[in-house]
Amino acid sequence: MTPQIDLTTHINLPTAMLPTADPCVIVIFGATGDLTRRKLLPALFHLACEGCMTGRFQIVGIGRQAMSDEAFRDQLREGVAVSAEIKHFEDTQWHRFAPRIRYLAGDFAEADTHRRLAALLETLPDAGNRLYYLATAPSAAPAIIHGLADAGLNREDPGWARIVIEKPFGRDLASARALNITVAEAFDEKQIYRIDHYLGKETVQNILFFRFGNALFEPVWNRNHVDYVEITAAEPLGVGHRAGYYNESGALRDMVANHLMQLLALTAMEAPVAFDADAVRDKKIEVWRGIRPMTPEEVASRTVRAQYRAGMIAGENQPGWLEEADVPAGSRTETYAALEFRIDNWRWAGVPFYLRTGKRLARQVTEIAIHFKHPPLTLFPREEALKSNVIVLRLQPDEGISLTFGAKQPGTERRAVPVSMDFCYRNAFGDNPPSAYAVLLLDAMRGDATLFTRRDGVEAQWRLITPIEEAWAARAADPLPTYAAGGNGPPEADALLARNGHRWRDIDGNAGACNV
Ligand code: BG6
Repeated sequence: MTPQIDLTTHINLPTAMLPTADPCVIVIFGATGDLTRRKLLPALFHLACEGCMTGRFQIVGIGRQAMSDEAFRDQLREGVAVSAEIKHFEDTQWHRFAPRIRYLAGDFAEADTHRRLAALLETLPDAGNRLYYLATAPSAAPAIIHGLADAGLNREDPGWARIVIEKPFGRDLASARALNITVAEAFDEKQIYRIDHYLGKETVQNILFFRFGNALFEPVWNRNHVDYVEITAAEPLGVGHRAGYYNESGALRDMVANHLMQLLALTAMEAPVAFDADAVRDKKIEVWRGIRPMTPEEVASRTVRAQYRAGMIAGENQPGWLEEADVPAGSRTETYAALEFRIDNWRWAGVPFYLRTGKRLARQVTEIAIHFKHPPLTLFPREEALKSNVIVLRLQPDEGISLTFGAKQPGTERRAVPVSMDFCYRNAFGDNPPSAYAVLLLDAMRGDATLFTRRDGVEAQWRLITPIEEAWAARAADPLPTYAAGGNGPPEADALLARNGHRWRDIDGNAGACNV
């Protein structure tokens, strides 16, 4: 175990102050779904309790089921009360919040639903500003967009009208383009908020602050000093009751096409000229454009897909993917994906960026590890300890940043050992950052699109992912590697790095350093 120097235990910093949303009505399509209950309502409730909503907001949920306002509120209350986002649920606060929630039953594809929505909005005070949130299956989006436009609800008169579209935004480049065209027929780009909840995570935003708020790191953040970069999002969880969706999507579309591509862009981008929506998004898009889409031969040598088989996590037996409920027999969906991207620009030429993600791995780890080059000369014995400095940005859990370097072990012998310097969010700022959804909803209600994906961004991401999906589909008969549930992933992913002399960090051995 690497000895740690905790630099943050005694720093007592204030917790975040959040700004206030514009007064508005939040209209949620897909109001009886999981996302609304587990993420959106807890986030809105949290914002209201923190005083970030003016006294004039309203929420309208739209779903197919017939239900009274009261029944809908009760259903939401259950979700909010048990939500991990809400540290101390209080009924008195809920009773002040709940009367602002309405329910409208209707089919999203029927014009009548949108007409009734328009009529309901007319009756609400301060319905001038409207935020439409599509928490629905992606296939429902075109009908909702057309319905809103036909009912005139896309117009910014008298206030603003914005639409938030959940991931997955399409399932390949062609369908993402088609959806972009559909939404652009009804809304101006400045009204469109394509959400990727990773961008709302405090620690993800901190990547830019770490890189561009300090003079220390940026000079070494390039091909002259960096050997390789690892980006990992490992989960011990399976897919719960989402097997139907996940079986169609797989790890590449579910996690790499959006969340990991965002982490890659934030790690590799140039400094923007300003911290505003277009300046930041321009620089991220340059990163994706700097990557050449893979040829089928490169897909064969630079990507790995795999499926978990039965195993054990935290002492409990876990079934394999093919034994999970609702997974079709013979499913070839990948539950793990690893790949190597190269960014063809002056900063990064020659530096591999390895991305990996998977379900049912040993434990939850989301992190970015920057491995630096070896020192040019070896002066000390046990030089393997000094081989390489690593900066790890730990996004979850145990959010923080650590820097590993070699130090002299006390004593007469000249021995170097690796030690690490750690910054821990929990110790520095306490344990209660706003949830990613709270951050992003608040930004959408304030008209700040910095943390949302622009039209050309979403297409630039799919331009890199689609050739991989196509090459995999063309080799559907190839044997699919497997990995044991509870492990580090398939050996094929280790081989991907080993051929360049690199090695993944252990998923099960890298517990964070916030337990001091
Ligand atoms: C979602 C994926 O977008 O992100 C899920 O659809 C995944 O499959 C989840 O589990 C991970 O998010 P987080 O915030 O738990 O890392």
